Amino acid sequence: MKHLLPAIALCSLVLSGLRAADELPALKDAYAGKFLIGAAVGSNVALQPNHPLRPLVEKHFNSLVSTNLMKWGPYNPQPGEYNDAEAGAYFGYGKAHGMYMVGHTLFWHSQTPEWVFKDTEGQQLSREALLKRMRERVQRVTKLYGPSTDAWDVVNEAIVEDGSVRESSFKRILGEDWVIEAFRIANEELPANIALLYNDYNMETPGRLASVVKLVHDLRAKGLRIDAVGSQAHWRLETPTIAQIEQSIVALRDAGVKVHFTELDIEMLPRSAPGADIATRGTLTAENNPYTAGLPPEIQEKLAKRYADIFALFLKYDDVVERVTFWGVTDGDSWLNNWPVRGRTNHPLLFDRERNPKPAFHAVVEAAKP
Ligand code: XIL
Repeated sequence: MKHLLPAIALCSLVLSGLRAADELPALKDAYAGKFLIGAAVGSNVALQPNHPLRPLVEKHFNSLVSTNLMKWGPYNPQPGEYNDAEAGAYFGYGKAHGMYMVGHTLFWHSQTPEWVFKDTEGQQLSREALLKRMRERVQRVTKLYGPSTDAWDVVNEAIVEDGSVRESSFKRILGEDWVIEAFRIANEELPANIALLYNDYNMETPGRLASVVKLVHDLRAKGLRIDAVGSQAHWRLETPTIAQIEQSIVALRDAGVKVHFTELDIEMLPRSAPGADIATRGTLTAENNPYTAGLPPEIQEKLAKRYADIFALFLKYDDVVERVTFWGVTDGDSWLNNWPVRGRTNHPLLFDRERNPKPAFHAVVEAAKP
């Protein structure tokens, strides 16, 4: 009896903990009928049935994207070599759970191997040869995964802050209008039920926003389909302002496309440049890694308020916002622990490193209540 009591007490504590987790409202239910709630995951979540993130993914999210798997390099690292085991697991897992499945991304200047742009002699490909290679990539993923795919980020980050076209091997070989050519291939190869997106960061920057709006008009003038623009939403506590985000939503709505917030997270650590230029790198210092022991409560509250404001805005435009995807599930699996500085302790998401909901989680659920 003496030993039994504490055991019973412990048991009921564990059970009430479990019950508390069970009783947590699901994000996707809180936003049902408004927009989809997505998560970006690594391929291990799909490959490992006992992966610790699975309960959260399955409970809270109704859309999935793979952080790296479907990019050209990870999927097709060498000519003729394809990572179909992982891709099959990813699409299979998501579809088994009825999720809206996103392919990220067909064409991007980063994580695309050099061989893509060269012939067997190592010479730069001709325009025609590169277009053919791009088309073959789209044909392959459509044949294998088309029935399980709901959207593709056709082109990622091809426009820079001032609105001009980013320098890249695609631009060097195909010219200024390479994004149009990429969409032409996507239009010809992908069925109409797969949404076609252009995706970029810092969508609130006037130069980039104007060029993305122009891109939408240019594509449509050529009879090409673009369904939505992906605004990555790698944001910070104070910037961009809610008014700036609102302007970007309104501009895209007026251009006639839907908006997907595709990679939402809130940077909590000091950083020299905003946005998400993958080429930015910094060195780890004590100053730029201040929250290794956790977020101080007042900063935690600021993050919760920031998320509440952002979701209130999304709700105001729920006729045009179709999906909000977080770039990660818990703080521990966020890319912001390793970019732009490796090895930091960041806190950008709704769940902490122990997979528990943060005040920001509750703020997002509250924001959905009428
Ligand atoms: C990131 C991944 O999360 C990292 O694992 C990888 O090392 C680099 O790319 N914008 C994008 C995403 O469109 O593909 C990037 O993902 C984050 C920034």
